[in-house]
Amino acid sequence: MKATTSLHALAALSGVADGLATRNSSAPVGATGLPLLADGYVDLGVASAAFEKAKTFVDGLTNEQKIKIITGSSFTGSSSWTPLSSKDGVAGINMQFFVSGFTMINAATMTWNPDLVEAQFRATGDEFYQMGYNLIMGPVASPLGRDPYGGRLPEGFSPDPYLSGILMGKAAAGMSSAGIVTAGRHYLLNEQETNRMSGGYSANADDKTTQEVYLWPFADAVKGGLMAVMCGMNRVNGSLSCENDKILNGYLKSDLGFPGFVLPDVNSQATAFGSANAGLDYGSSRYWSEEVMLEGIETGNFTQARLDDMATRNVLPYYFAGLDDGQQPEKISNTDYRNVRGNHSTLIRKVASEAIILLKNDNTNGRGLPLNKPRTMALFGAHAGPCTAGPNQQFSVGGTPADTYPGHLATGGGSGQASFPYLITPFQPLTTRAAEDGGMIWWVLNNTYTAPPAAGFPGGGGGGFPGGNGSFPGGGGGGFPGGNGSFPGFPGGNGSFPGGGFPGGGGGGGGFGFGGTGMEPSIPNYAENSEACIVFINSMSGEGSDRTELANEEQDDMVNTVAEKCSNTIVVGNFAGPRILDAWIENPNITAVLYSGLLGQESGNAISDVLHGDVNPSGKLTHTIAKLASDYPTPTCMTSECNYDEGVFIDYRWFDAQITTIRYPFGHGLSYTSFTYGDVSVSVTNQTALGSRYPTGGLTLGGKADLFDEVIAVSTTVQNSGAVTGAEVAQLYISFPEEAEQPIRILRGFVKIEIAAGESADVTFSVRRRDISFWDTAAQKWAIAEGEYTLAVGSSSQDIRGSATLTV
Ligand SMILES: *[C@@H]1O[C@H](CO)[C@@H](O)[C@H](O)[C@H]1NC(C)=O
Ligand SMILES: *[C@@H]1O[C@H](CO)[C@@H](O)[C@H](O)[C@H]1NC(C)=O
Ligand SMILES: *[C@@H]1O[C@H](CO)[C@@H](O)[C@H](O)[C@H]1NC(C)=O
Ligand SMILES: *[C@@H]1O[C@H](CO)[C@@H](O)[C@H](O)[C@H]1NC(C)=O
Ligand SMILES: *[C@@H]1O[C@H](CO)[C@@H](O)[C@H](O)[C@H]1NC(C)=O
Ligand SMILES: *[C@@H]1O[C@H](CO)[C@@H](O)[C@H](O)[C@H]1NC(C)=O
Ligand SMILES: *[C@@H]1O[C@H](CO)[C@@H](O)[C@H](O)[C@H]1NC(C)=O
Ligand SMILES: *[C@@H]1O[C@H](CO)[C@@H](O)[C@H](O)[C@H]1NC(C)=O
Ligand SMILES: *[C@@H]1O[C@H](CO)[C@@H](O)[C@H](O)[C@H]1NC(C)=O
Ligand SMILES: *[C@@H]1O[C@H](CO)[C@@H](O)[C@H](O)[C@H]1NC(C)=O
Repeated sequence: MKATTSLHALAALSGVADGLATRNSSAPVGATGLPLLADGYVDLGVASAAFEKAKTFVDGLTNEQKIKIITGSSFTGSSSWTPLSSKDGVAGINMQFFVSGFTMINAATMTWNPDLVEAQFRATGDEFYQMGYNLIMGPVASPLGRDPYGGRLPEGFSPDPYLSGILMGKAAAGMSSAGIVTAGRHYLLNEQETNRMSGGYSANADDKTTQEVYLWPFADAVKGGLMAVMCGMNRVNGSLSCENDKILNGYLKSDLGFPGFVLPDVNSQATAFGSANAGLDYGSSRYWSEEVMLEGIETGNFTQARLDDMATRNVLPYYFAGLDDGQQPEKISNTDYRNVRGNHSTLIRKVASEAIILLKNDNTNGRGLPLNKPRTMALFGAHAGPCTAGPNQQFSVGGTPADTYPGHLATGGGSGQASFPYLITPFQPLTTRAAEDGGMIWWVLNNTYTAPPAAGFPGGGGGGFPGGNGSFPGGGGGGFPGGNGSFPGFPGGNGSFPGGGFPGGGGGGGGFGFGGTGMEPSIPNYAENSEACIVFINSMSGEGSDRTELANEEQDDMVNTVAEKCSNTIVVGNFAGPRILDAWIENPNITAVLYSGLLGQESGNAISDVLHGDVNPSGKLTHTIAKLASDYPTPTCMTSECNYDEGVFIDYRWFDAQITTIRYPFGHGLSYTSFTYGDVSVSVTNQTALGSRYPTGGLTLGGKADLFDEVIAVSTTVQNSGAVTGAEVAQLYISFPEEAEQPIRILRGFVKIEIAAGESADVTFSVRRRDISFWDTAAQKWAIAEGEYTLAVGSSSQDIRGSATLTV
């Protein structure tokens, strides 16, 4: 949703029939057949007190007042209601002055650090609260990442449902703990921007796929305290998400026990009763006028009980967040100053530096990373420094003008775009550091720059510093290039410049010339003359359109141009989603690659921290990097019917099954140290639970209560076998018995742990009932299959270090 669009200004959409749809709800609901909170079909747990307050409040209202609540109007009198004040933002407040520009969520996920992700969402929520907003259009678990080109991937977590689920739960808990209402979005199966408007495409997925992959993270969010859900613009199996009985009344309210309200994305409500009866709780007075709703109760197209439920679901979150305490600061305009940032910059820098993944590192012969005070260093690419006018250009919601950005990129576009108070680009700290380290630094902040013809400083022959001995390559001629001009150039031929010699001898262009530092300003020349060459690349995207490429030729040409001349080329990339690296990744001159998402206001500091080894990289890939863009199974769907025929096989689940050779696996990431793993052991921690095929608990927030109980524990030890302190993300992958119809192995646990050099640590993965369950379509329940499970522990999805088996 776009911040500037009012929920009341929803345009009409024709062609969708009103009326109560046939529901295939997979869980029992209240006596009326609809999931009404007052029927007590869900144990509200921590939300029980808020429900009682909401019910009492709503019981004292007229129907006219209830209709005002569900359409976002206020009323005063013996009872009064002020609509919640909403605003977009996942990585800071969208379009607001004086707030923090947090790390984009695609990057924060790469930390694999749930506590840090929770802290970031709490800090973000706190800024919303302090600015007077109390309904955040918040964390995004859809798109999940089915489509590697997906425009909104910067806002989401990972195509792995378990990883997304753990972090979505932390996001909901963190934001909510700031004392505001958090809306998760874009529910459901909303995986791309292409054709997104007004139900322009239908996402068609079977039950198993929906439950095991796309609904999964919403369950964690509901358990984590998510009190609002925004239904998406897409259709699901033909019905608009916001009018879809099965996904709203069924999956969300009946299966997950969601206690709050469902509100529509822009233009996503199309009817009065079709939406209200399907489970939409907040909508437009254009459809839900007093006249229509009251008459609906008369004619039986709608019920009093449902109206009461809608109002209660709108008010419950207000009490749950504690907004009735009267403490929240008044909302101010989006340009007024209020000091809300506190020390969030420290947190942002920490998240960003932990989010950086070291994909490759050859640090033999003083090359690679961390940098070891290079005497000469060159930076290449627009992404190394500020763009000409920045950093808060409004990225178009209708589609970004290009897939790359002409400056340092640290946020996504559209309603997920962060508002930067400032942006530290790599250029700043790297320059400062070169000064401190006594080095020299030069740069070309342009991907294609070629030096203008150098009239006036001719070379022509014999120029340059002679040499032949030392670290700069010899052979070429010195002087400024050019064929004519008046300056005769330095003579060459005999080597008076001792040690490290600049090249000399020959004639013609290239090399160093006049004055010693006056190099020909070109990418190849700087590359040739630098001990460390750092090339910066990016890819951008945001709300409104999908990416058109997963690699960029201009950037790849730049990387290759540098690597041809520089045997210590380090590539730093920040990307909106998966980026293909095969144009250069195998070149041995490319000694190191840092890869991440979009890092927020402290981006340059975080990159510098890792380049210099002040922070030992610990990020891990949250998606697979394929060799070819065409290797991904699910490109953007260009038609109005999008069939999720790949089922549960997205990302590594698909590559594993196809045995397709990939470039870097899901979960991969190196460190400046190394880790060894001990034996893996498994213990059953709840035999009773394992003895039952289906859950036996009652419905509570997130689903059947016992789905979240630990049933087995898997343990190993991890040793830091290198020379410096570092953090490892140990990953648990489970292989299921055949009946479960699961991918070869799926992530079902991870533990991030910092270990000092030479030390070991015990690592235990707690496996919940849901983690070893599959969706039994016939029974419409989560089930534990009988048979043998393999519990494999590794440093990535393809670097398994040990395993154990368990027979259930
Ligand atoms: C409900 O399930 C039946 C049988 O599985 C199916 O034919 C029907 O299309 C489903 N309805 C909806 C709304 O999904
Ligand atoms: C969509 O259709 C598939 C196939 O009939 C079915 O398994 C699934 O439950 C349906 N989902 C929804 C939300 O209607
Ligand atoms: C109300 O329900 C009746 C009977 O199902 C139907 O004919 C009519 O179109 C409905 N009215 C609206 C406004 O949905
Ligand atoms: C920020 O300050 C708060 C107290 O105001 C403190 O609890 C927190 O640890 C600080 N965070 C960082 C990252 O320094
Ligand atoms: C980069 O350099 C090229 C060639 O010199 C020039 O055409 C282009 O405008 C420059 N781009 C930017 C963003 O400055
Ligand atoms: C060399 O000089 C000629 C004649 O003045 C001019 O046309 C040409 O552009 C010059 N070339 C360069 C590279 O400056
Ligand atoms: C270069 O060599 C020539 C001839 O041997 C000599 O005359 C000249 O002084 C030398 N130049 C330098 C800079 O050493
Ligand atoms: C050339 O290199 C050798 C070996 O490193 C060194 O001993 C010698 O001093 C160098 N000569 C000059 C002129 O720097
Ligand atoms: C690596 O760099 C050196 C210059 O240091 C160059 O001679 C060589 O051709 C480069 N190799 C590749 C594969 O580009
Ligand atoms: C073990 O599982 C049973 C059945 O799900 C449950 O009732 C019980 O509370 C669980 N015990 C523990 C300690 O979690």
